[in-house]
Amino acid sequence: MSSVDLDKYFKPDLNQARKRSKNTIEELKFDLSDAHYKIGIGKTYMVQTFGCQGNEADGETMAGILELMGFTKGLSEDNVDVIIINTCAIRENAELRIWGTLGRLKAYKKQNPDLILALAGCMAQEENVVERVLKKYHHVDIIFGTHNIHKLPEYIETAMFSKEKVVEVYSQEGDIIENLPKVRNHKFKAWVNIMFGCDEFCTYCIVPYTRGKERSRSKDEIIHEIKELVETGYKEVTLLGQNVNAYGKDFQDQNYTFGDLLRDLDGLGMKRIRFQTSHPHDLDQKTMDAMRDGKSIMPHFHLPVQSGSDSVLKRMNRHYTKESYLKVLADLKKAVPGIAVTTDIIVGFPGETEEDFQDTLRLVEQADYEGAFSFIFSKREGTPAAKYIDDTPEELKKERLYLLNEKINQGYLKGNQRFLNQTVKVLVDGVSKYDSDILAGYTEHNKLVNFKGDSKWIGHIVDVKITAVKTWFMLGEIV
Ligand code: 5AD
Ligand code: SF4
Repeated sequence: MSSVDLDKYFKPDLNQARKRSKNTIEELKFDLSDAHYKIGIGKTYMVQTFGCQGNEADGETMAGILELMGFTKGLSEDNVDVIIINTCAIRENAELRIWGTLGRLKAYKKQNPDLILALAGCMAQEENVVERVLKKYHHVDIIFGTHNIHKLPEYIETAMFSKEKVVEVYSQEGDIIENLPKVRNHKFKAWVNIMFGCDEFCTYCIVPYTRGKERSRSKDEIIHEIKELVETGYKEVTLLGQNVNAYGKDFQDQNYTFGDLLRDLDGLGMKRIRFQTSHPHDLDQKTMDAMRDGKSIMPHFHLPVQSGSDSVLKRMNRHYTKESYLKVLADLKKAVPGIAVTTDIIVGFPGETEEDFQDTLRLVEQADYEGAFSFIFSKREGTPAAKYIDDTPEELKKERLYLLNEKINQGYLKGNQRFLNQTVKVLVDGVSKYDSDILAGYTEHNKLVNFKGDSKWIGHIVDVKITAVKTWFMLGEIV
């Protein structure tokens, strides 16, 4: 395909995506036009979501829109009418998996030329991805980004009836769209977006480019959504945002931040409220106080640290030092005694020395984490860190990851051991993957528990006495 063809499409531009406009964000309501109702009747769809909970929530919206258009959920790739690949761009290996999936789907398009194949999510926001898809993955019919999910009905209509390729990705965010339909993947645990975007610009991270500037949903919309969830029997919500602690900082007409929101959500009748993800430098006392007072705010905090070395933290643009991080953590543990804290850590950031890495290991011990996600630095084109000199051998990075994980696992075990012989409250998720007589669920501190019990308990909160603990889970008995 020639470059002229590439130019006719509405493609993303990471340089544009870096800009932060001062435009006020409007709140608009989604409404399906008459032309789009019934387009999908008798047809089926699949949404395949990769990546974070934010993406899962978006995938639920895509499914909601498709069902409103009349589509029903299909069960297998070789027998559906629409497939949406909802992608993740956070690390290279996430992208590699998705390229593999796209390649695999080519055969289904050959079998059924009417199959509509769409690429959505964070990868669609990257210009090099869109160019590669246009040049080499001709079987993809629609490419749309994270800022225009609400326009999905138009894209489906064009692909279906005009048989034209649709490429529409906005580099910058638009307004907040409310009233979006959702098909939730879970019957008693729900995701609720409280804000979109990220303005932190950590130097390794692609998210501020793929998700746009920080913008908060109105408190009334969030409360309305959670009340509805309570009425329909939901027991747990996880409030979502790339940096939930910045919630409300973009409101120009009111002083209402994350701590205020937590206080207002507590008492709505939702049994369990969780949130993610947090940024240490925006975590304030008001939030900690709301957690201390709120009966439904769960005693678990995911507080990504990324590194224990001040010089690495500075080059990551994290806006805190190891000392100031530990101070925030101490305040949190004082406000909410017994709170379980987990984190994210990157090893092998460009220029990370042995001493920097040792600082990270020491921090893991000092912070007493009860769990962590650990990653090897992955170069993301378009981010500042992609240009940093990265001369640490891959083997050494892997060794650091291994050593870090050993330390993290000690924390998991220690975190579980403190509950031995205690009775804890477990929201029963379902039966265990390995044994259908065994139930599995999570405690208030977000620990996985397995125990014998009847499937009638699924979706209920039950008291379980912990009888044994392992690194990754605990065993117990219903009391
Ligand atoms: N390489 C490795 N890990 C990354 N993360 C974000 N960007 C990168 C990257 N380029 C990790 C951070 C973040 C988590 C969601 O993913 O630890 O907290
Ligand atoms: Fe990425 Fe940093 Fe924003 Fe998290 S806070 S999404 S790591 S830029």
